[in-house]
Amino acid sequence: AGADWLKGKKALVTAGGTQEPLDPVRYLGNRSSGRMGYAIAQALQEAGAETILVSAPTDLAVPAGVTCIQVQTALEMYDAVLTRFSEVDVVIKAAAVADYRPAVQAEQKIKKDGTSRTLELIPNPDILAELGRRKTSQVLVGFAAETENLLANAQDKMHRKNVNLLVANDVTKLGAGFGSLTNIVSFLFPDGRKIDFPQMSKHEVAQHLVREVANLLGV
Ligand code: C5P
Repeated sequence: AGADWLKGKKALVTAGGTQEPLDPVRYLGNRSSGRMGYAIAQALQEAGAETILVSAPTDLAVPAGVTCIQVQTALEMYDAVLTRFSEVDVVIKAAAVADYRPAVQAEQKIKKDGTSRTLELIPNPDILAELGRRKTSQVLVGFAAETENLLANAQDKMHRKNVNLLVANDVTKLGAGFGSLTNIVSFLFPDGRKIDFPQMSKHEVAQHLVREVANLLGV
C-alpha cells in the first residue's frame, strides 16, 4: 500500500531561504531555491499525509493538495512552526534559515553617503533545536548543508538538535545543494546507521526520505 503509507498522519515541512530585512527594499538572504523542501512536501502529500508547507519566498508553485503558509523572516518561520508543532507527527526542516538578522530594520531606505558602514547582526532562534527540546512523539528531520567536514558537522548537528534523521549534503559538490535540480545526500541516524545515496533528483531524494519517515513512524 505504498500510495497511502502516511494516511492519517500530519506532516510539516519548511522550505526556501528566509529573508531578513535591512530596510523597506533590502534584505539579507541565501541561495536556497526551496526545491528540496517543495519536493518533500509533494512526496509526503502523495504518500497520504496531510501536509503543511511553511515556505520562505521561492519561485515555485505549491504542490497540489498541500497547505502553504508563506513567511519571510526566521522569526515568522519560528512562530509558524512552533504554533503547529504539537498537532503534527513529523517535521522536516529543509529551509535555509538565517542564523542572524540585522539588529535594526530601518524604516526608510538607507541612503548612501560615501562612508563605510558596519552592520550589526543579532542571532535568530534555532527553530530545529527548539523543536528538538520540545519533541514528544514527533519524528524530527533536519538538514545539514556544509562546505567542509561534512560528516563530522552533520553528526554533531544530529545530536545537538536531537533529530531522528539528519540529511547531510555537501553544497560545494556539483549537482548537489542550493539551486541544483539534483542532490547528493547521506541519511544519518542517532543509532549510528548511515545511508549514502548517489546523485539523484530532489524528487527521488524526497521519496527515499518519505520511506524512512514512514519507518521511523512505525507504519
Ligand atoms: O546549524 P544549521 O543551521 O546548519 O542546521 C541546519 C538545520 O537546522 C536545518 O534543518 C535548518 O532548517 C535548521 N535551522 C533552523 N533554525 C535556524 C537555523 C537552522 O531550524 N535558525
